[in-house]
Amino acid sequence: MAEKSGMHMEYDINKEDFNSAGEASSKVKKTLNMLGVDNKVIKRVAIAMYEAEINAFIHGGGGMAVADIYTDKIVIEISDHGKGIENLELAMQEGYSTASEEIRMMGFGAGMGLPNIKKNVDELDIRTGPGEGTDLKMTFKLN
Ligand SMILES: Nc1ncnc2c1ncn2[C@@H]1O[C@H](COP(=O)(O)OP(=O)(O)O)[C@@H](O)[C@H]1O
Ligand SMILES: [Mg+2]
Repeated sequence: MAEKSGMHMEYDINKEDFNSAGEASSKVKKTLNMLGVDNKVIKRVAIAMYEAEINAFIHGGGGMAVADIYTDKIVIEISDHGKGIENLELAMQEGYSTASEEIRMMGFGAGMGLPNIKKNVDELDIRTGPGEGTDLKMTFKLN
């Protein structure tokens, strides 16, 4: 087991509260800045976590964000109990989106979230399925 540097954060992703969308990512980003983590790593964490958080908000009906900062890695887990992803291979493709017109009008639904997550993480573990919700575990190595 990797040694923990004592940082564990948990946030609700509340689907009713549009103003708070992206808040968990922004708080984790601030904390990583405060801890003096490499800026390039912070950027990757912020992008990937934001996309996963917005997905839980838009597609998953809200859920939870958990961030753990160890001495050698950062682990972010975003989970929801929504409808789940039916075809993950399709969902991972650039430009694929099931977002409604209404969601697109709000500036979401370009279909680049999952591809961008994939590009920015060191490890990605996705658990999802129809009616099973979605759980994304993203790992970023430090040093
Ligand atoms: N948490 C989730 N719950 C259910 N479906 C999801 C979730 N995250 C992603 N998806 C599905 O995968 C598709 C692609 O996601 P993404 O690449 O982030 O594009 P976008 O969010 O712009 O639609 C979504 O349109 C949706 O169908
Ligand atoms: Mg998305």
